[in-house]
Amino acid sequence: MRSKTLFECTGCGHQEPKWLGRCPSCGKWNSFTEVASAPLPARSAARDGKGTAIPLSSIETREGMRLDTGISEMNRVLGGGLMKGSSVLMGGDPGIGKSTLMLQLAARLEAPGRILYVSGEESPGQLRMRADRISVSSERIEVVSETELTAIMQTLEKVKPVLIIVDSIQTLYTREVNALPGTVNQVKVCAQELVDWARTRDAALFLVAHVTKEGLIAGPKLIEHLVDTVVSFEQASAEIRTLQAVKNRFGSVDEIGFFRMTDAGLAEVADATSLFLTRRDGGAPPGVAVAPVFEGSRVLLVEIQSLTVPAKSGISRIYSDRIDGGRVARVAAVLEKHLGLHLAEHDIYVNVAGGIRITEVGVELPLALALYSARTGVALPAATAVTGEVSLTGEVRPVPGIEKRARACRDMGFPSLMGPGGHGADRPETGDWSGVELVQEAVRLAFAPAAKD
Ligand code: TYD
Ligand code: MG
Repeated sequence: MRSKTLFECTGCGHQEPKWLGRCPSCGKWNSFTEVASAPLPARSAARDGKGTAIPLSSIETREGMRLDTGISEMNRVLGGGLMKGSSVLMGGDPGIGKSTLMLQLAARLEAPGRILYVSGEESPGQLRMRADRISVSSERIEVVSETELTAIMQTLEKVKPVLIIVDSIQTLYTREVNALPGTVNQVKVCAQELVDWARTRDAALFLVAHVTKEGLIAGPKLIEHLVDTVVSFEQASAEIRTLQAVKNRFGSVDEIGFFRMTDAGLAEVADATSLFLTRRDGGAPPGVAVAPVFEGSRVLLVEIQSLTVPAKSGISRIYSDRIDGGRVARVAAVLEKHLGLHLAEHDIYVNVAGGIRITEVGVELPLALALYSARTGVALPAATAVTGEVSLTGEVRPVPGIEKRARACRDMGFPSLMGPGGHGADRPETGDWSGVELVQEAVRLAFAPAAKD
């Protein structure tokens, strides 16, 4: 087989049969270098028994192969533990706490076997200092300060770890690829090799990755398909961090893990219900509504804040990054149409206290009441929470899990809950319940008593 010559962009890995002055993919100039196109490796198929048909029933299921990471918020996000043989890409901004979380996980993993921490970012000394600071027992963790892939693979063969942490994937390189570490092709090739090793040796692999300015996990999107699970570690507030799966071959992507950054590492927040609630004596000011929303399997009480001001430019705008702007526009339109609330020529600001994004439909009725309250200057009654979906016709649509929502509200000092009361809607047994069928009714019920005095 004749090996053909190829040209490859050192910036993005794009390949062309002939040299070009400018990469048609990323637009970089003079970025093409000559590479020999490698013939496809014939190895894996025969070795793994791929290509041989076997009865589905004779295939071992992988359930029961989950490892307890020793961090229940992490287990929750991964879908009930860390699958053996699987690979997890963890992305997050620099400084968010990725290395801290990995070190804590390495120290707490409930599985026999060796644990290898491949550190391309920090020296073993720095790692040791962090381990001491967060007082994790570092006896089981073996550290290798290496960024060259072949050397790392040799270490893997020697150590045969049950857990491998690579921090970070962007620091690795292989001589097979003629490009700088961190470039797409380097990241891709190194990640693929590590993922394959973990899969065939039944080890679990964590690849740590910094999120690039564009908000993508670098080796942009390109390595997301190589791994089984992609989790994103983000900052919700000064000390609160959220961990959420963006892709999960072994579980749902709805669960959020909550952590608090302390002086001694990351602490799990098991009871997150009131994490984003602002406590006030005598109720909240106008523009605020409290809503019980589902994040995965648990209910959080969140405070929706809104503000309306006359539009500076004459054209009204919506500023909302915690709740989808389209959803805010739709709810505002319902208020204009069905309640005659004058929102035209007004800018609308919407926020969720604590910095969490809400995508659940149950946020619509509380959003409607927060907007109404902001525009009229009348506060919602204290100790009342609100839930429900709002249709374009102004009907309040049922939301799932009403009992669980009501219980969370009661436990957090909101004994009154207003929500969908129409045909087919469940009524909770907990607390004082006000069922409403239309958004008009919700507004009348919420604001009428205040308007009277
Ligand atoms: P780090 O895990 O190094 O972040 P990443 O690997 O994502 O870049 O942690 C970053 C920050 O966390 C660091 O600036 C200091 C802070 N931190 C604490 O507040 N408490 C701690 O116990 C540790 C280890 C770090
Ligand atoms: Mg780090």
